[in-house]
Amino acid sequence: MQIEQIILPEFPLLLAPMEDVSDPPFRSVCKANGADMMYTEFISSEGLIRDAIKSRRKLDIFEEERPVGIQIFGGDEEAMGMSAAIAATVNPDLVDINFGCPVKKVVTKGAGAGVLRDIPLMVRLTEAVVRNTKLPVTVKTRLGWDESSINIEEVAERLQDVGIKALAIHGRTRAQMYKGEADWTLIGRIKENPRIKIPIFGNGDINSPEKALEYKNRYGVDGIMIGRAAIGYPWIFNEIKHFLQTGEHLPLPTIQQRVEVIRHHLKRSLEWKGPVYGILEMRRHYTNYLKGFPNIKEFRSKLVQLNTYEEIDDILKQVLIRYDGFIAEKNLWSFAEGAPNCETAK
Ligand SMILES: Cc1cc2nc3c(=O)[nH]c(=O)nc-3n(C[C@H](O)[C@H](O)[C@H](O)COP(=O)(O)O)c2cc1C
Repeated sequence: MQIEQIILPEFPLLLAPMEDVSDPPFRSVCKANGADMMYTEFISSEGLIRDAIKSRRKLDIFEEERPVGIQIFGGDEEAMGMSAAIAATVNPDLVDINFGCPVKKVVTKGAGAGVLRDIPLMVRLTEAVVRNTKLPVTVKTRLGWDESSINIEEVAERLQDVGIKALAIHGRTRAQMYKGEADWTLIGRIKENPRIKIPIFGNGDINSPEKALEYKNRYGVDGIMIGRAAIGYPWIFNEIKHFLQTGEHLPLPTIQQRVEVIRHHLKRSLEWKGPVYGILEMRRHYTNYLKGFPNIKEFRSKLVQLNTYEEIDDILKQVLIRYDGFIAEKNLWSFAEGAPNCETAK
């Protein structure tokens, strides 16, 4: 598959943009485990223009992660145009627009999924971005504002008409937030629309190779975007790829592979965030990577108290010895069990 200059495999697996999750260290881990294209966390267009430190920092991208897109959001045409131009200065492979974030703080500013209530505005915002960058522009959105105003079919056509090069659709409405099950029926219908020529990526609740295969076949999407299932389990990308190619499962990750991923994540975290935040921000990841290991708590409580790579690595060495040969059951992210949401979004 090709999106302008971007060459992708025939059926790409994308890492979803996730605020406070899909930062460069996490992206590095996902890339190493099979993600074909990735996005930054969403970046406020107003923040970029104000030169807010948090927004600027999210523009950091690295060669090893290409192709990578910068995701921006906002409800003002001029600001979106300007921020597209700012995003382009760091030379990403594409600029993605977020029309899907359901968080109140975002939608009340007429941004994120808030734009789903005003298609003409959505079209103008998109045009402003397309006009202000030579890079391919893509969009990520939801099915509609709520059940009574589902408008993704019109959205897909109109955004294609103003020049977007791919569309990722999360099969929920804004009103659903992250509740219930994602409904891919409408995503499938968009693929059936002969007017739609751009790639359509399906998103929502993919957490196993079987489900990826089933949804690929049933809804005919051009690729799949994965979010929560990759948190603590970046192996999901290669597992799905292998299953789609061979019909067979890769072996579950060993404790050696898990520790290797933790070390990789921690090293990148230290490189990117420095010795203090690099350690602090890594702490929330240990639980996810070590899910399913009996009595892991005793190690985890040490991991989250230590302050240097060497001290942490000592504990990881103990983990390797203690769990040698133990294979944790598949770390199936249970969407029913209260999934994380982007409430932290600023
Ligand atoms: C913690 C978290 C943060 C998110 N932040 C963003 C974001 O910045 N931009 C965006 O387009 N979607 C964001 N999302 C939505 C995801 O990209 C994705 O659409 C959603 O999680 C559904 O996919 P999944 O079921 O594979 O997780 C976020 C989701 C989560 C769980």
